[in-house]
Amino acid sequence: MVDSLHGPADDTFMKGVVLAGGSGTRLFPLTKITNKHLLPVWDKPMIYYPLECLAKAGIEEVLLVTGGNNAGDFIRLLGRGAEVGIKSLQYTYQDGSGGIAQALGLAQDFAAGGPICLILGDNIIQRNIREPLRRFRHQGEGARVLLTPVDHPEQYGVAEIDGDRIVRIVEKPKQPPSNLAVIGIYFYDGHVFDIVRSLRPSARGELEITDVNNAYLARGQLTFDVLEGWWADAGENIEYYYQACLRVRAEGANQD
Ligand code: DAU
Repeated sequence: MVDSLHGPADDTFMKGVVLAGGSGTRLFPLTKITNKHLLPVWDKPMIYYPLECLAKAGIEEVLLVTGGNNAGDFIRLLGRGAEVGIKSLQYTYQDGSGGIAQALGLAQDFAAGGPICLILGDNIIQRNIREPLRRFRHQGEGARVLLTPVDHPEQYGVAEIDGDRIVRIVEKPKQPPSNLAVIGIYFYDGHVFDIVRSLRPSARGELEITDVNNAYLARGQLTFDVLEGWWADAGENIEYYYQACLRVRAEGANQD
């Protein structure tokens, strides 16, 4: 049991980690001279949306992990995070792009043994995440993921469900066991960094977040919620990026 899960009554017990590294090749040439998370999604840079998602859930301390040639641009854009509602925004740098779990591993000292909410910098959602965060807090330990039905599950981590239980998660399966994608917002207890250290690179040479989630599953400590409202993976390809812009324009993001 992680002691800090029994912290104050508000949501400040949990820190946030936003990933904005990776190579961004799927949006080339838009990403030839900048990081994809700095591209506009309707009226704001893409990275504003995951940061505001955390801020609206009451998460005040956030670590942003980035890499490549544009790390300094994030500091110039975001400073200490006040404009996106973050009380304390810190930064670290990922050499190369060895996977989501590798980037998460860089947050170990920042997390200081406490629980974290990890969000991928290209994920945008319609509604706030206060309710799943509250459920994770009651859960007390382990991990919690968010699922949503999609048309092309083969592009994502896909969860096979049996009633209220996840049976397994498969990363980008050729034959998806369901249409339920695991979106890029995850809640983890302080043991996540032990799990990250135990991982081996996948066939695509990355430390996979799906392997982290399956490690929690093997311990019987992985729960899920079905996401309310829409989800956009704005970095998946140029069509999804455009669709994300249209959705944000029409309906806004991170709504109460
Ligand atoms: O969007 C949800 C999906 O995200 C999940 O369903 C998959 O299980 C998960 O593996 C991931 O798949 P993607 O192939 O879409 O991940 P991508 O390589 O696009 O990276 C997602 C974010 O993580 C992106 O904002 C950049 C950041 N990233 C990625 C890598 C590989 C890093 O910061 N460092 C990295 O090394």
